[in-house]
Amino acid sequence: METLKRTKIKALLASEPGVEVLAKGWVRTKRGNKQVKFIALNDGSTINNIQIVANTELFDEELLKRITTGASLSVKGQLVASMGSGQAVEIQATEMEVLGDCDPMRFPLQKKDTTLEYLRSVAHMRLRTNTFGAVLRIRNAMAFAIHKFFNEKGFVYLHTPLITESDAEGAGDMFQVTTLDLKNIPLDKKGNVDFSRDFFGKKTSLTVSGQLEGELGATAVGEIYTFGPTFRAENSNTPRHLAEFWMIEPEMAFYDLQDNMDLKFLNDKYDDGLIERMQGVLGIPFQKVTYTEAVEILEKAIADGVKFEYPVHWGTDFQSEHERYLVEKHFGKPVILIDFPKDIKAFYMKQNEDGRTVRGMDVLFPKIGEIIGGSEREASLEKLEKRIEELGMSRKNLEWYIDTRRYGSVPHSGFGLGFERLLLFVTGMANIRDVIPFPRTPKNAEF
Ligand code: 4AD
Ligand code: MG
Repeated sequence: METLKRTKIKALLASEPGVEVLAKGWVRTKRGNKQVKFIALNDGSTINNIQIVANTELFDEELLKRITTGASLSVKGQLVASMGSGQAVEIQATEMEVLGDCDPMRFPLQKKDTTLEYLRSVAHMRLRTNTFGAVLRIRNAMAFAIHKFFNEKGFVYLHTPLITESDAEGAGDMFQVTTLDLKNIPLDKKGNVDFSRDFFGKKTSLTVSGQLEGELGATAVGEIYTFGPTFRAENSNTPRHLAEFWMIEPEMAFYDLQDNMDLKFLNDKYDDGLIERMQGVLGIPFQKVTYTEAVEILEKAIADGVKFEYPVHWGTDFQSEHERYLVEKHFGKPVILIDFPKDIKAFYMKQNEDGRTVRGMDVLFPKIGEIIGGSEREASLEKLEKRIEELGMSRKNLEWYIDTRRYGSVPHSGFGLGFERLLLFVTGMANIRDVIPFPRTPKNAEF
């Protein structure tokens, strides 16, 4: 059998009949009768299966029994025009070999139980389903498109560290990284953990954002982007939060907030159908509104009888119900919120003249809420230092960052696009756990 070279199913389905072929793959289904079996075979090269027609006279009964859903199979035969509808060609099998058996009683992907919730519990197998095969391929295409976009725009892809000593967002939701023996933690004279004995000689965590290092890159080569995993130890059990998610963070020197908002993160160079769909939404102008105006809209809605679970007044952070009201009910299009109260945003955002708001910008999408968070950065050394002090942050850990304002400071801006939230939008999936192969959420780090 091996003298013939294997052809991928994607290529077979596009081939002319009349040749002898070798296919390998996993059995999706087997049906038929005493005379003939029809086997749907899939090898991952395409979401489509090729049909194998096996005349039972040619094959051992024992072999045919072993051909069950999930088993891997090598098939040699004649590629012929298909009599059935649904496929142009099929394989008339002459030789078959089961490469790996699959116990039909134990196989976790049964026809009857395919809810997305159930599939999450068998995430190691769910990639073999059509749904997750499609999500995985879209995820791959999107990642590639994003790299291509920034590359064509001249941005430098900067690899920022995953282990860090700084809390970039100042929210404190960080996973600690340590090699200390948790059963025997070394303490200093004051009774605090002695991190000088830890691997890095200091307290370190998994990064919540590559931005601070991204700013170092942007103030050197002009325009950079990061694209990597980020980690948040927030106890958020929602369909939009992951403890480990991927973020794209462009950072641009000499960009103010307006330039930042104008950087369209996907242009029209791709002819991919999916991206076209996104273009539909990205083609319409987003509604720009200040935080203060948005509060007024929400307060008016409440006065008119709209019920929210969480209260709204100037100074509160919006909940997703508020974001969705603005996008889906009030404006009916994506919204860019700007000029937030400084106390609900990170220390690095540019302070407005009013002394109480900052040049932040959140992009809100229908069904998803916040998909992008960004800002113009505070370029003034004095103002940045003052803010760090006001917030009681450890200055010692941030001297390197403050240096960007000390040595040739420039106006600059950037934003973070949550890759999985973007995928929610593109795929139409409702739960963020279904757009990442192996989701990490509170109490869930399996696989
Ligand atoms: O708004 P965030 O926290 O902004 C930052 O991290 C900035 N440093 C970005 C920057 O200016 N360079 O996060 C940015 C985006 C959010 O808008 C959201 O799409 C996504 O990251 N995000 C999450 N996605 C999934 N799970 C979570 N727990 C997320 N937290 C944020
Ligand atoms: Mg945010």
